[in-house]
Amino acid sequence: MPASDTAQLLTSETALNPLDASRTALATSLMRALHSRHDPAPLLDDDWGDRLVPETFRAAVLAQALRANAAYADVIIRTRYAEDALQAAVARGAVQYVVVGAGFDSFAYRRPAWAADLAIYEIDHPATQAMKRQRLAACGADVSASVEFIAADLSAETLGSALARSSFQPGRLTFFSWLGVSMYLAREANLSALEAMASCAPAGSELVFNYVDQAALAPGAQVGEAFSKLKTAVSSAGEAFLSGFDPAMVGEQLEAAGLELLEDLDGEQAVARYDPSGANGLRSAAAAHIVHARVASLTAPRMPY
Ligand SMILES: C[S@@+](CC[C@H](N)C(=O)[O-])C[C@H]1O[C@@H](n2cnc3c(N)ncnc32)[C@H](O)[C@@H]1O
Repeated sequence: MPASDTAQLLTSETALNPLDASRTALATSLMRALHSRHDPAPLLDDDWGDRLVPETFRAAVLAQALRANAAYADVIIRTRYAEDALQAAVARGAVQYVVVGAGFDSFAYRRPAWAADLAIYEIDHPATQAMKRQRLAACGADVSASVEFIAADLSAETLGSALARSSFQPGRLTFFSWLGVSMYLAREANLSALEAMASCAPAGSELVFNYVDQAALAPGAQVGEAFSKLKTAVSSAGEAFLSGFDPAMVGEQLEAAGLELLEDLDGEQAVARYDPSGANGLRSAAAAHIVHARVASLTAPRMPY
């Protein structure tokens, strides 16, 4: 982006309409803030979660509705799960962190000491990323040293080609997070993103992503009221659930992409791990899964990305 466009983006308060940005990303950011500030035993300390969201959107969303949303528990837990896995990966030598479909994720701006030397790349749809950058500027955040932004529509461009437009180094041990995105992309785009992650980072690099059990997306599936409401709500926000994975097949699909499945937790298992006493009252939506995977050692030459 030319410097003049960047300056305009960062200084113009009125140029961007919050409705152009991903509304699910705005909502999940507010959920993290609400949890951090109000749940009794927070799993996150995300004081950026509400500041990154424009006032007009904040005013339109009731805290009660966010807390009752079927996705609430999964949003909180997936962020904590990914950051726990990231910390362990950094201890094993990961030096790059790629946040795919970053939305208003604030890890780069509340960077803990263990992540001080991590090169962080945020990839997102141009409209959502532009809104986030405008909000960061409005909050007075100097992000130039924290993160490199890569605007990309992953339904039209591969992840590998997006990364190739940045300073990302394919030879360095990398951690990818891909949270709350796979359900909004078609199956082919998801498989291509997995292949890209496996082919543009060395063996031992890692990925955390979440998915919806595809059985819950089948026409007429018996999924319960909370999940049905969630499906309707995201669809009316213009971000319909497009595809899921079959938990029985996800290991094979990862393997075909060049990844090794380390763990696949369903929503109940995730809540049992992260809210074992029920202190936060977290209840997972039916059909939620979170996966931890690793780039497998090469058995055959991979395509360059
Ligand atoms: C539910 S939000 C999740 C945001 C963030 N990862 C989180 O956990 O809060 C979905 C994100 O996926 C991004 N996304 C959806 N479709 C996309 C596409 N075709 N290309 C790039 N990003 C996309 C949206 O812009 C949005 O930021």
